[in-house]
Amino acid sequence: MAESMQGLRRTMRCGEVSEAEIGKTVTLMGWTQKRRNLGSLIFVDLRDRSGIMQILFDENIIGKEGFEKAGGIRSEYVLAVVGTVEKRGGAVNEKLKTGTLELQAKELRILSESETPPFPVEENCQTKEEIRLRNRTLDLRRPDLQRNLMVKSQVAGLSRAFMAREGFLEIETPMLGKSTPEGARDYLVPSRIYPGSFFALPQSPQLYKQLLMVAGYDRYFQLARCFRDEDLRADRQPEFTQMDMELSFVDIDDVLDVNERLLQHLWKEVLGIDIKVPFRRMKWIDAMNRFGSDKPDLRFGMELRDVSDLVKDTAFSVFADAVKDGGTVRGINVKGQGGMPRKKLDSLTDFVKGYGLKGLAYIQLKEDGTSKCSFQKFMKEEEIQALVSSMGGEKGDLLLFASGKFKLVCETLGALRSELARTLGLIDPKKFEFLWVVEFPQFEWSEEENRFMAMHHPFTMPMEEDLEYLDPRADLSKVRAKAYDIVLNGVEIGGGSVRIHQADVQEKMFECLGFSKEEANEQFSFLLNAFRYGVPPHAGLAYGLDRVVMLMLGLDSIRDVIAFPKVKDSSDLMTQAPSTVAEKQLEELGISIREA
Ligand code: AMO
Repeated sequence: MAESMQGLRRTMRCGEVSEAEIGKTVTLMGWTQKRRNLGSLIFVDLRDRSGIMQILFDENIIGKEGFEKAGGIRSEYVLAVVGTVEKRGGAVNEKLKTGTLELQAKELRILSESETPPFPVEENCQTKEEIRLRNRTLDLRRPDLQRNLMVKSQVAGLSRAFMAREGFLEIETPMLGKSTPEGARDYLVPSRIYPGSFFALPQSPQLYKQLLMVAGYDRYFQLARCFRDEDLRADRQPEFTQMDMELSFVDIDDVLDVNERLLQHLWKEVLGIDIKVPFRRMKWIDAMNRFGSDKPDLRFGMELRDVSDLVKDTAFSVFADAVKDGGTVRGINVKGQGGMPRKKLDSLTDFVKGYGLKGLAYIQLKEDGTSKCSFQKFMKEEEIQALVSSMGGEKGDLLLFASGKFKLVCETLGALRSELARTLGLIDPKKFEFLWVVEFPQFEWSEEENRFMAMHHPFTMPMEEDLEYLDPRADLSKVRAKAYDIVLNGVEIGGGSVRIHQADVQEKMFECLGFSKEEANEQFSFLLNAFRYGVPPHAGLAYGLDRVVMLMLGLDSIRDVIAFPKVKDSSDLMTQAPSTVAEKQLEELGISIREA
């Protein structure tokens, strides 16, 4: 029978009890982690989000009735216990903050009973995530998830305070907005009052924050929920939170500076770690060339090397033809892996095939001085030697090569580099390697749409020295953007850019993206109209808050820092959303569902 807590008041949390309380009477409330019945004594571990406190029920202290009640306690029962804090009589538990103490219960109330939970509420629970997500409330009681969400709350609070000190205003922007082109797929919300018309949930507050700059609210900041209907990955959710900002009368360095200080502050306050600023900066093209990624993980080496020149005139047509066709041949040196067994090498080939490469060539430099080369019969000995030395190959190394189009080769070797580092244990999990990637291409060719698209968004300012190429008749691939990404340990945690504030540049940009004047006006009229009345130069950036916290805590999944996340198919296992709705609701919205 559940009892009332009337007349009782919690005096502190379980994990907050310290030696200072010895001899004092305290009232704790929480959930039952575990219960041990030793006949004349009953021990209960009482848990709340601050930690665990051991409770001792001794019949001589609590009396017969109370002791019997304690005998009925089961896992996850919610208890209120009044008692005296004492030094533990039995063994000290080194793992607990309160491990030297126990509470000798004088009064017990069972505030709520619990059915047997489907999985144990404990750290590093091995139960399948699917089962845990179906019962997310129980899962969220686990100390690791509680710590994650507490850190997230701390990061949000520290960021708000830091930004306020730096003169940023927190301003909310709408959730129900207009669907605009040039992004991911929108989540749409049908309008009841205008049947057939839709709001779009924001993919980011991008246009609103620019309008706020035009409106004179220099230095805007918001923790903004964003929605994108795209394929999910370990670091991607359909709804996520951005730490979003925009500044007026600034250029790139001003934005990077305030953000370096923000990250430095967060790492110091939350983790007690001093991170060095300014962060390294790397041009996009160098990141692609050296690491095969626009978000390189700098915690380990294994850089890509371009060997196109060395192989272009050899008889190995796989390499030579790739270079002749305008492609590239690149390699990585996997130190100390020259003895890798055939089966493992085959699995690396399968890995690169998954990215669309036809195969992976290799040279194994054995410890005994011999070597094995997968293309030996097509190349002269001295050509192979030249390759080995240009790759810095030494006894015991494994050299891997890929050939084909620049983007495919770089990205595949980049992914292989990360995969090898992970499986070979080359990554120090305690390291935090921050990096600004700058000078992104303004445009990206879309095979699907057969046109150039904006790599960031259509309001990103090109680099001044490339403005001459901002012309649909010029080579658009030459235009670099005043855009920057902040990368941590191989993950893009944030990105932003300097925005276009001149009407003529914006017009040219739309033209390059294939929008007619009318189309641009129709899609972005609210922005373009506002821009007619005086626009300050402005720039901004947004972090994925979830990703920042995930990396801070060394986690692999974004779901571990979101209270109620979606799974891979974008559904919510706990509420079963999305779900069908009543016919009447659809009628009101003027919607009928087409048969699939
Ligand atoms: P961008 O699209 O790069 O920029 O987003 C900014 C940051 O948000 C995070 N992020 C995500 N996190 C989780 N799940 C997702 N689906 C997801 N998508 C993005 C990433 C990313 O770096 N308006 C611009 C910012 C600007 O220019 O100021 C924007 O939204 O960490």
